[in-house]
Amino acid sequence: MQNIKGKVVAITGASSGMGKAIAIGLAKNGAKVVLGARRTEQLQQIVEEIKSTGGEATSAKIDVKNKADLVRFVNTAVEQYGALDVIVNNAGVSQLSRIDELDIDDWEEMIDINLKGVLYGMAAAIPIFKQQQSGHIVNIISTSGIKIVPMQGVYAGTKNAIRTIAEAFRQESEGNIRITGVSPGFVKTDFANNIKNEEMKTTIQKGMEQIAINPLAIANAVIYALSQPNNVEIGDIVIRPSKQN
Ligand SMILES: NC(=O)c1ccc[n+]([C@@H]2O[C@H](COP(=O)([O-])OP(=O)(O)OC[C@H]3O[C@@H](n4cnc5c(N)ncnc54)[C@H](OP(=O)(O)O)[C@@H]3O)[C@@H](O)[C@H]2O)c1
Repeated sequence: MQNIKGKVVAITGASSGMGKAIAIGLAKNGAKVVLGARRTEQLQQIVEEIKSTGGEATSAKIDVKNKADLVRFVNTAVEQYGALDVIVNNAGVSQLSRIDELDIDDWEEMIDINLKGVLYGMAAAIPIFKQQQSGHIVNIISTSGIKIVPMQGVYAGTKNAIRTIAEAFRQESEGNIRITGVSPGFVKTDFANNIKNEEMKTTIQKGMEQIAINPLAIANAVIYALSQPNNVEIGDIVIRPSKQN
């Protein structure tokens, strides 16, 4: 794929689901990928899988709640491969509840991971991108922030905060650093397994079983965005199952 070969791409939340698919998809197209997440065993397995098919990959244990982890993460890319061309801020969690349930701990978890975690990723990458005078930020957002429904207010809020921040950054960056938002709808991953509200968990899992699309669709969107020439910035991509209402 044009413009992907040799690119150094760091991906957060690469131990499963979309992050894993993005890492494998990019590596197949010749990118050097750096996988970050908390579950090191899964990361190691994916790295081995990529290497066994001739790809280049490494991993780092990171918790996106810790800003120092993100700095270490991007430095791993630079130390190992000599540059950082792209950061994919993909790590995310969701807890779904009514606002008046006041699930404040879960709100904070989502804000820490989905919002602050992405900002930490951007903050770690931007100095390197500035020095190189080039770079690309890809944020995995959600259709939850587009069609806003009950029970998903705070989750959608964290995702839409990223959309808002990205638009300001796009204008500020004057073209040297590109920024892309990818908003998936239902995608078949383990994402719903961590939802504590049993009723919501079952609803989401049912939706997943019935209509969710393969994470490959999201990987392909990231590949599309990264394969553009330097003067082309893909802004927002929304990918839903055709049947998602
Ligand atoms: N699946 C969907 O239907 C859907 C729809 C719209 C948007 N999304 C978004 O897509 C992204 C990926 O989700 P997924 O569906 O692929 O689910 P997933 O399989 O559960 O993947 C989530 C990833 O985030 C990582 N992660 C979570 N907390 C982390 C932390 N504190 N530090 C570092 N990594 C952390 C997890 O790794 P560890 O547990 O190993 O740390 C895992 O690799 C998320 O941002 C999610 O909001 C998902």
